[in-house]
Amino acid sequence: MKKIVVILLALFSFAGTAFAADVIELPASMGKVSFPHKKHQEILKDCKKCHAKGPGKIAELGKAWAHKTCQGCHIEMKKGPKSCKDCHKK
Ligand code: HEC
Ligand code: HEC
Ligand code: HEC
Repeated sequence: MKKIVVILLALFSFAGTAFAADVIELPASMGKVSFPHKKHQEILKDCKKCHAKGPGKIAELGKAWAHKTCQGCHIEMKKGPKSCKDCHKK
C-alpha cells in the first residue's frame, strides 16, 4: 500500500511539469529575460502565437526566434518591451 502511495505521489509531481510557471526565466548572456507567460496566455489567448507545434518546450527558442517573435509582436502591437535593456535584465 505504502509503495502505491509513493508511486502515485511521484506520478503527480512529474505531471506537474506539464504546466508552465507563471513567469519563465529565459537565460541569455546579455542578461536573463523574465517572461510573464501567464500574462501572455491571458492577453493573447492564442497559444499558437508562440507554440506553432503545440504547448510545451519550444525547439526553435533562441536569439533569432525570440527577437522575431517577442520583439516583433511588441513592435507590431506597440505594446510590451522593445529595447534591449527592457527585456534583458541583469
Ligand atoms: C507569447 C508567447 C507564448 C504564448 C502566447 C504561450 N506560450 Fe507557452 N511558452 C512560451 C515560452 C517562451 C515557453 C518556454 C519554452 C521553452 O523553455 O522551451 C513556454 C512554455 C510552455 C510550456 C512548457 C513549460 C515547460 O517548462 O515544460 C507549456 C506547457 C506551455 N508553454 C503552454 C502554453 C499554453 C497552453 C498556451 C496558451 C494558453 C501558451 N503556452 C501560450 C511562450 C508562449
Ligand atoms: C503576439 C504578441 C506577443 C508575443 C509573441 C510576445 N509578447 Fe510580450 N507582450 C505583448 C503585449 C501585448 C504586452 C503588453 C502587456 C500589457 O501591457 O499589459 C507584452 C508585454 C511583455 C512584457 C512586459 C510585461 C509587463 O508586465 O509589463 C514582457 C517582459 C514581455 N512581453 C516579454 C515577451 C517575451 C520574452 C516574448 C517571447 C518569448 C514575448 N513577450 C512575446 C505581446 C506579445
Ligand atoms: C522582447 C524582448 C527582447 C528584446 C527587446 C531583445 N531581446 Fe535579446 N533575447 C530575448 C530572448 C527571449 C532571447 C532568447 C533567450 C533564450 O534563448 O533563452 C534573446 C536572446 C538574445 C541573445 C542571445 C543570447 C545569448 O546567450 O547570447 C543576444 C546576444 C541578445 N538577445 C541581444 C539583444 C540585443 C542586443 C537587443 C537589442 C537590440 C535585444 N536582445 C533585444 C528577448 C529580447
